[in-house]
Amino acid sequence: MKKIEIITRTEKLEIIKKILVNHNCLGLTVYSVMGCGRQKGHISKAENDDVATNLLPKIYVMTVVKDSELKLIMNDIYNEIGTGTHGDGKVFVSNIEDAMRIRTGECGENAL
Ligand SMILES: Nc1ncnc2c1ncn2[C@@H]1O[C@H](COP(=O)(O)OP(=O)(O)OP(=O)(O)O)[C@@H](O)[C@H]1O
Ligand SMILES: [Mg+2]
Repeated sequence: MKKIEIITRTEKLEIIKKILVNHNCLGLTVYSVMGCGRQKGHISKAENDDVATNLLPKIYVMTVVKDSELKLIMNDIYNEIGTGTHGDGKVFVSNIEDAMRIRTGECGENAL
């Protein structure tokens, strides 16, 4: 299993939900967050270090998916969310050792 953490523009939430449902990934957790990347929260690249860091509103979507879905989801995120401009966001992927559906005790991918 893989944990996918997506941080991107707030208006992209609906399309992320659509991508995940298309891959039969039905469980997700969403946060409203503030963040910045290399531009320190400014519209274009910061040219020097004395520009103050500004945090911009973003959405953070966390989902745990089957290994077999990871590449397909990453491709769809790139194709459907990317605009080619600064601030499109980032995806972080990590391994998940185990999971359990508390209601039934099912573990591993059966718990997703
Ligand atoms: N290294 C990081 N660690 C944690 N969160 C990050 C990191 N980089 C970006 N983020 C989060 O992702 C959001 C969007 O980042 P952003 O797309 O601006 O990244 P970037 O590296 O500046 O790329 P770009 O040059 O395309 O803008 C940030 O507001 C922040 O919440
Ligand atoms: Mg940026």
